[in-house]
Amino acid sequence: MKRNTGVIRKAVFPVAGMGSRFLPATKASPKEMMAIVDKPLIQYAVEEAIEAGITDMIFVTGRNKRAIEDHFDKAYELEAELEKRGKLELLRITREVIPEGINCIFIRQSEPLGLGHAVLCAEPVINHEPFVVILADDLMVSDGASVTQQMVDVYERHHSSVLGVQEVPRELTRQYGIVSSVRVNAELEQVNGIVEKPEPEEAPSTLAVVGRYVLTSRIFHHLRDVQAGVGGEIQLTDAISALIAEERILAYRYSGVRYDCGSKLGYLKATVALALEHPEVRDEFAAYLQHLKL
Ligand code: UTP
Repeated sequence: MKRNTGVIRKAVFPVAGMGSRFLPATKASPKEMMAIVDKPLIQYAVEEAIEAGITDMIFVTGRNKRAIEDHFDKAYELEAELEKRGKLELLRITREVIPEGINCIFIRQSEPLGLGHAVLCAEPVINHEPFVVILADDLMVSDGASVTQQMVDVYERHHSSVLGVQEVPRELTRQYGIVSSVRVNAELEQVNGIVEKPEPEEAPSTLAVVGRYVLTSRIFHHLRDVQAGVGGEIQLTDAISALIAEERILAYRYSGVRYDCGSKLGYLKATVALALEHPEVRDEFAAYLQHLKL
């Protein structure tokens, strides 16, 4: 694990969305608990944060909070049963969901008023520190440093908020926050505007914000003032837009592959990609895919 220098210790995981695109799977359990092969999306996200040296995991939960709290809690009965049956490898995997030294904090968002509102709910725990926001339904796979690690590195070099961005086809701009920016170098842009879900003909660019942010605590000041925007929700994008007037904000073209697991197609693609890397099933699964092609 590569440690950051300790400047960024806290990660916020908003997990209180409706997940309506996955109903009925999300009727009684948050979409972030859906598994890719054998691990829930939220665990991939927490592992990414741990790899970046983050120690405090702040979950903003909604109506289905139990599943997430239970997942990151000790499971006494299950562990005793696995031990009794001699299933020691499974016992290890179960215990390692949360390694030692990691704190889990749960905050309730009473109503799903939007991503911006969910982030604002974390303010009492963040205080005045910079922090990361990780949307677990954007699953990131990278060969080297994790995307969160890359972004923490950018923060440590530049001391400004950092938005993870990628190019998207113009016809998809209405699914994203889109930035207008000035190029700093091959990886970095300085953001001078951001707009939530613009129509393709109105989008200022095709550079889309994805589910990774490093934010300074000044964002809370703006989140408190933001009125409901696109979709009637309190948008994080609108608070970032207000922050641009005060602080430099960078957009970072991360290195890695993103799977949009909030959509059915993205979820299926992630499942295939990760199954093809999973030591237990990859060979047989690859053979099965080969067979399907015949
Ligand atoms: P999405 O835009 O994907 O919305 O939220 P959603 O409600 O989860 O899913 P659909 O569109 O109904 O299928 C982006 C992220 O923000 C969180 C979600 O849990 C997800 O991680 N979120 C969104 C909240 O925590 N609270 C909210 O009020 C809205």
